Amino acid sequence: MDRIRIVGGSKLNGTIPISGAKNAALPLMIAGLLTEETLILDNVPRLADVAQLQRVLGNHGVDITSVGKRPGDHAYQGQTLHISAANIIDTTAPYELVSKMRASFWVIAPLLARMHEAKVSLPGGCAIGTRPVDLLIMALEKLGAEIAIDGGYVIAKAPGGLTGATIDFPKVTVSGTHVAVMAATLAKGTTVITNAACEPEILDVADCLNAMGARVSGAGTPRIVIEGVARLHGARHTVLPDRIETGTYAIAVAMTGGDVQLAGARPELLQSALDVLTQAGAVVTPNNEGIRVVRSGAGLQPVTVSTAPFPGFPTDLQAQLMALMACAGGASQITETIFENRFMHVQELARFGARISLDGETATIDGIARLRGAPVMATDLRASVSLVIAGLAAEGETMVNRVYHLDRGFERLEDKLSACGATIERISG
Ligand code: EPZ
Repeated sequence: MDRIRIVGGSKLNGTIPISGAKNAALPLMIAGLLTEETLILDNVPRLADVAQLQRVLGNHGVDITSVGKRPGDHAYQGQTLHISAANIIDTTAPYELVSKMRASFWVIAPLLARMHEAKVSLPGGCAIGTRPVDLLIMALEKLGAEIAIDGGYVIAKAPGGLTGATIDFPKVTVSGTHVAVMAATLAKGTTVITNAACEPEILDVADCLNAMGARVSGAGTPRIVIEGVARLHGARHTVLPDRIETGTYAIAVAMTGGDVQLAGARPELLQSALDVLTQAGAVVTPNNEGIRVVRSGAGLQPVTVSTAPFPGFPTDLQAQLMALMACAGGASQITETIFENRFMHVQELARFGARISLDGETATIDGIARLRGAPVMATDLRASVSLVIAGLAAEGETMVNRVYHLDRGFERLEDKLSACGATIERISG
């Protein structure tokens, strides 16, 4: 299994190109199931999760071709996927595939909307908590689906098709909102979703659905209205830049010091995180090409942060911020409000010498002057990258094990960091 070796202590200087957002690319690919025509997606990141979803879609009979660089393309443009679900040959998403990546459960929405049936394995728990799908099922039932759970599978049927309805989410859910919007595009009549997630990826998917002929309005706000249409057609859409990758590298620069341009980043996608970094002592400057992050010699200030749905501080940057605060000049507090068990990185950060205590949902981090490198591993994607960030600033050598988590969500991580002066390499095998 691959490992990543880091020798800490180098400042980061240069340019890091920001890839397309994983968490937009995945639902966008799933939206390809809604039409028999071809959906073309540009700027799709080359990630293990994208490849895994290609396998899931392939099992339904979807043809996906990946087109590489063309003359004139920028060096780091993502891949272009041509997704053609002309013939859906199987409406079952089996356990073997769904259990590898939770987001594959979301295929239930387009399958039900277009084929009027779906049998999809329950995804099960994962390293960041139990993560139920009750609200996704509630949304589909509101749209008229008959749902049974049998043998670990959700079996959904809508013999006459789905019907528009009012869906009021009792808590903000990204997955619930994606599923409700996709299913409602082909429902008869109007659907109104209240307390919808406002994450930028919801808006990106809605923009693509509208390009495919859907009638979705209000995406990006808590109230989304969808007028159902009889069918959707092909379209071409560019995946928006990854705000979590952007925030991760911004935190890395704040941690090591240096001066990095995050090329293609969009500041409005992560303003709350940029504000926290500014408070911590980094100089963050949006410009025409992205975002520049600088931290000169000055020490880091402690912060008090709670994660929250967009536009709040994202849970997907919580672990990275904790690594940063491990070296702040004082005590920070970070409260995780989205997932019940997203503190798996605390014990691993302690291996670098970080002083972190947990009390329920709140971590208190007493900053120390310098972390020391260590062998570490993590059980989820964002936790793993927090260990990379710690390793970049730590004295001596760090070995990050179980790199496949990083490959799920960070495109060419070690290339991007070493191009900015980090000593980081992948050790295969
Ligand atoms: C998405 O997960 C992201 N994944 C996550 O990113 C991200 O952390 C999360 O949103 C929050 O921003 C993708 O987009 C693929 P939710 P999702 O539904 O949609 C509870 C990463 O590292 N809930 O907004 O699964 C749930 O347990 C990943 O890239 C229910 O109770 O998150 C959680 O506490 C990790 N019942 C809260 O809602 C449900 O039916 C928010 O979950 C659904 C969710």
